[in-house]
Amino acid sequence: METLLFGVWALLALIPCPGATDELFEVSVWPDQALVKFGDSLMVNCSTTCPDPGPSGIETFLKKTQVGKGPQWKEFLLEDVTGHVLTSPSPTLWLQGAPDLPAPGEPAWLLLTTREEDDGRNFSCEASLEVQGQRLIKTTTIQLHVLYKPRLEESGCPGNQTWVEGMEQMLACVPKGNPTPSLVCTWNGMTFDLEVPQKATQNHTGTYCCMATNRLGSVSKDIAVIVQGLDEGNSSAIFIIITVALGVGVIIIALYLNYRPCKIERRKLSCRQKEKNKEEESQFAVQQAEKCNAHHC
Ligand SMILES: *[C@@H]1O[C@H](CO)[C@@H](O)[C@H](O)[C@H]1NC(C)=O
Ligand SMILES: *[C@@H]1O[C@H](CO)[C@@H](O)[C@H](O)[C@H]1NC(C)=O
Ligand SMILES: *[C@@H]1O[C@H](CO)[C@@H](O)[C@H](O)[C@H]1NC(C)=O
Ligand SMILES: *[C@@H]1O[C@H](CO)[C@@H](O)[C@H](O)[C@H]1NC(C)=O
Repeated sequence: METLLFGVWALLALIPCPGATDELFEVSVWPDQALVKFGDSLMVNCSTTCPDPGPSGIETFLKKTQVGKGPQWKEFLLEDVTGHVLTSPSPTLWLQGAPDLPAPGEPAWLLLTTREEDDGRNFSCEASLEVQGQRLIKTTTIQLHVLYKPRLEESGCPGNQTWVEGMEQMLACVPKGNPTPSLVCTWNGMTFDLEVPQKATQNHTGTYCCMATNRLGSVSKDIAVIVQGLDEGNSSAIFIIITVALGVGVIIIALYLNYRPCKIERRKLSCRQKEKNKEEESQFAVQQAEKCNAHHC
């Protein structure tokens, strides 16, 4: 308990103002309420409306020193305020996330099963105390650290990795764990540097062994690397092109064979029509000639 409210009751012993015996006057003290840290000191100003108050003082069991005065006021320093606790000192505690409030004076508890996601989570505890109608609040926050063993998951460290020959490649392996694990990978019995990109050759094909370690434990995993030749890619592209070309050719031939008889039919038909037309034309010519002959044209 660091802060206490200190109620100031000061008594100014005043003798009546000369020549104004029956007149009323006021006496006041400032501050009328003070919040003082346990053991600290406080300045108190006592004043009066009486124009000529005469001898006066402050009455308190605390160590007091007069530090200033005016015609109608006096200022005192009160030291080592270890002040009269005016109300119950048991604060109310509130712990963020805790299901219920503890009884006054009892500690607050929160029981939880920690998960990885809780790492870095903050919890705050608030203590509040009501003193003389004033609500005093103190809060504190604590951060939770959840530690866990290393893991090499498929998402961060795939067990099968394909490299393209001739390209700059790196072994992909990011371990999980708290504290952050250190990672060592070996290949053919030698430590393999994960930071340096490798120009992939067929020689890189093989099984790499990675081991992640933190102070809670370690885990290892084999990673199979396959280096895919560029030619393989090219030849498959050529194969696809040839297949597509052959397919298109077959369709064209099929369409041609399907439409050819129709063309022949059509040609025959148009020939017959022409012949028919010719016949009609000649008939028309004969008729005209006959007409001409009849009209002597
Ligand atoms: C004490 O209070 C009186 C009356 O309010 C004021 O006039 C005076 O300046 C105060 N003294 C100090 C040191 O603040
Ligand atoms: C917890 O508090 C610290 C510092 O007060 C802050 O850096 C951190 O981001 C907070 N964590 C969360 C999960 O909010
Ligand atoms: C890697 O590939 C092999 C064969 O293709 C397969 O049997 C194995 O399950 C794969 N491993 C992983 C971790 O995907
Ligand atoms: C692959 O390894 C063989 C023998 O280990 C070596 O002679 C050859 O030069 C290597 N090839 C490449 C491209 O590194």
